[in-house]
Amino acid sequence: MNDHDLTEALAFETQSIRAGSFRSDQREHSEAIYLSSSFVYDSAAQAQAVFAGDEPGNVYSRYTNPSVQMLEERMAVLEGSGVDGEITACATASGMAAILGTCMSLLKSGDHVICSRNVFGTTFTIFAKYFEKFGVKTTFVDLVDYQQWREAMTPETRLLFLETPSNPLSDVADLELLAVIAHSNDALLMVDNCFCTPALQRPLSFGADLVVHSATKYIDGQGRCLGGMVVGRKKLVDEVHLWQRAAGATMSPFNAWVFYKGLETLPVRMDAHCRNASELASWLSQHQAVERVHYSGLKSHPGHELAKKQQKGFGGVLAFEVKGGRESAWTVIDSVQIMSRTANLGDTRTTITHPATTTHCRLSDEDKMKSGITESLVRIAVGLENIEDLKSDLEKGLKQLL
Ligand SMILES: Cc1ncc(COP(=O)(O)O)c(C=O)c1O
Repeated sequence: MNDHDLTEALAFETQSIRAGSFRSDQREHSEAIYLSSSFVYDSAAQAQAVFAGDEPGNVYSRYTNPSVQMLEERMAVLEGSGVDGEITACATASGMAAILGTCMSLLKSGDHVICSRNVFGTTFTIFAKYFEKFGVKTTFVDLVDYQQWREAMTPETRLLFLETPSNPLSDVADLELLAVIAHSNDALLMVDNCFCTPALQRPLSFGADLVVHSATKYIDGQGRCLGGMVVGRKKLVDEVHLWQRAAGATMSPFNAWVFYKGLETLPVRMDAHCRNASELASWLSQHQAVERVHYSGLKSHPGHELAKKQQKGFGGVLAFEVKGGRESAWTVIDSVQIMSRTANLGDTRTTITHPATTTHCRLSDEDKMKSGITESLVRIAVGLENIEDLKSDLEKGLKQLL
């Protein structure tokens, strides 16, 4: 059987290695990278047929590229298995290009968006500052206050947007309920699934219409490339593809190759991220210098039961509050020698950051307070190093707080 023909019947681990892959005439085992901006034809008539869409083939890499298509096919299978209807994917230059492209292609002036307040800072800026300029208004609501979502609905509401679990506090939103709220108004539910990836959560199977990713995170898994993905029903994603062709926020073939190679180890990596994060969260929750741990894998977390139902694992990101405010948080961050002091996540290497002064620094003090971003909060995206080494690395700073 050709890898290309593999069906939905296969298990996730097999799909993540085999789906979407195809070989050139050279019969390479590991997929080739198609680094070519344009493509050639045997005749003028063939060029005409390919340009017209009457014959399969590529025209130009801003439109389609074989490496990018392999990734799109693989992601469509991973996010869309078991979901009714034809699911397709569109790769973009970054996670932000995925969000921007989806909104630009599906919304118009006069439309209204409801967005969780607890989203990535640049996502907040896109909705609050840029869409507003083009006549698309956004109301921000608390992720898990469903009454706020219902009350924000207007006849013009066309899109509900959220991340679950949230960054950095791991709040978990009920996707089935939000899909019902969106569809009662003929609006679309769009979910940023980059913290879970399809290895842990498939929003389309809970009724979401569109999934977006920053592939830059766990899909790459080793912090090398920027990229984004949009996945959903063909009719919607076709519109995003058309926007991409015009706007040019295209993923490079090299990055696409890195991402679909990254997907091959995604289930194994996500399992290991979850295991390490669970262990670190339990250890931190017993530590005398720590006031509170935010991780949905802990029974004490308000989203624990929902996360158990909706996710296959609790993810690799946790946050904790230390006693003593910013100075204490910075002491812990400045003391680590293994963890990387950086705001990116989804890497094999553990990263540590102070959300109030990095990832969430542009929020007003009021918005920080509403989103639970305190000065004593530290976020860790737990990598795949040995867990005892990670505990010792944190212990150096934590013991100075006692
Ligand atoms: C949850 C989330 N969504 C989207 C993005 C944007 O992705 P990118 O940096 O690939 O544009 C990020 C980036 O950090 C993110 O954390």
